[in-house]
Amino acid sequence: LFRSPGSPGATVEVELAAQQQSIDLPSGRSIQAWTFGALAGPALVARVGDTLAVRVTDVDIAEGTTVHWHGYPVANAFDGVAGVTQDAVRPGEEFRAEIPMTRPGTYWYHTHQRGSQGVVRGLYGTLVVHPASGPTEDVDLVLPVHTFSGTVVVGTSDMVGTSTVAPGRSVRLRLVNTDQVPQTFAVQGAPFRVVALDGTEVDTGILHDRALVVAAGGRVDVVFEMPDAPVRAGVASDRDVGLALVPHAGVAVPDLTVPPTAFDPVGDLSAPSGATSAHADADAAIDAALAADRFDVERTLLLDRLPRLVQGAPDYGYTVDGRVYPFIEPTVVAAGDLVRLRFVNRSFETHPMHPHGHSVRVLSVDGRAPMAPLWLDTFDVGPGEVWEVALYADNPGIWMDHCHNLEHAALGMVTHLAYRGVTTPFEHGGRAGNAPE
Ligand code: C2O
Ligand code: CU
Repeated sequence: LFRSPGSPGATVEVELAAQQQSIDLPSGRSIQAWTFGALAGPALVARVGDTLAVRVTDVDIAEGTTVHWHGYPVANAFDGVAGVTQDAVRPGEEFRAEIPMTRPGTYWYHTHQRGSQGVVRGLYGTLVVHPASGPTEDVDLVLPVHTFSGTVVVGTSDMVGTSTVAPGRSVRLRLVNTDQVPQTFAVQGAPFRVVALDGTEVDTGILHDRALVVAAGGRVDVVFEMPDAPVRAGVASDRDVGLALVPHAGVAVPDLTVPPTAFDPVGDLSAPSGATSAHADADAAIDAALAADRFDVERTLLLDRLPRLVQGAPDYGYTVDGRVYPFIEPTVVAAGDLVRLRFVNRSFETHPMHPHGHSVRVLSVDGRAPMAPLWLDTFDVGPGEVWEVALYADNPGIWMDHCHNLEHAALGMVTHLAYRGVTTPFEHGGRAGNAPE
């Protein structure tokens, strides 16, 4: 592997073998899952400067698999979309990727071959990237939530796991929603700060009694100081699942209560502290475009649910501009373009929109501008809402831009961000049976 001179980076070997697994959960229930070798996948941890050397194989998933790095700015060839950036990996085949870790944060990975089936059944895992200097908190935990036909699992448990943390230690919880609909998390027993959204650092000051609504595919990191009392973390969809941190063994664990008020990323961010953001250059360029009211590419995407024929039978399609994938016009850009996208939701459901390969800066939600630069890679466009976002086109390729309710994606709500002049040799269907949505 190539390593630039002086870089401290290590090579992290990653084996992701898609397979059917029967999993016995701590409650005694068992689920028939598809996994990348373990429930909630191997939990990957790396540092900026490392390189992930990934081998994807397929043991016995007949439909095939891929691995998409949700939110991570990878090269297009490693975006893992079957039929767009590669062929699906079928049983006995393999796909290799080398992914340089360039940015810290909380991310996740999942199959992008027939995701409405594969992700839902469990082909996902988490990726935590620490700064080059290592973890910034004493205790660092990842809490991915996933619902297996009605059974809520946080991490690898369908119950409340308990661990002892000494008072005064700093704790980071990384909340990850791998489901199809928004999940409401609660962290109870300690005031906390929200320190990152979708892998980008933010500042909120100390928050009290705020629920944390995480979009399907989104991530929220919170940090608090361990008090001399228990802290409970979990989700509203099943309060008997999650995590309890106790200052000493034997302390009783309280029930989870979910605060009625939710953290609002648009209204609750503090003014920028002057710390250099991962997106400083893009922020400057976007500020200039806003001042001049001039973007290189502008597009409105109308999200809706419309009747259509699906294989001859009347059904609904989840549409963008009245069409379904692959008949939706792509957003065509050139490298270096500043792009303003306006998502208008005319339907009665939430659409968690997710552009691949790029984070976007939220300019406004229903006309309300964030208090500080707000960068996301997955955002819930609620019924009737209008989101304006800016995208800096700095990662050439053909990228999906889709609803992360994967049932909506399967029923059409997928479009492309396509860099002019980039083509792909891969196709939908074909010998590999590619199903990118
Ligand atoms: Cu989580 Cu198209 O991705
Ligand atoms: Cu949707």
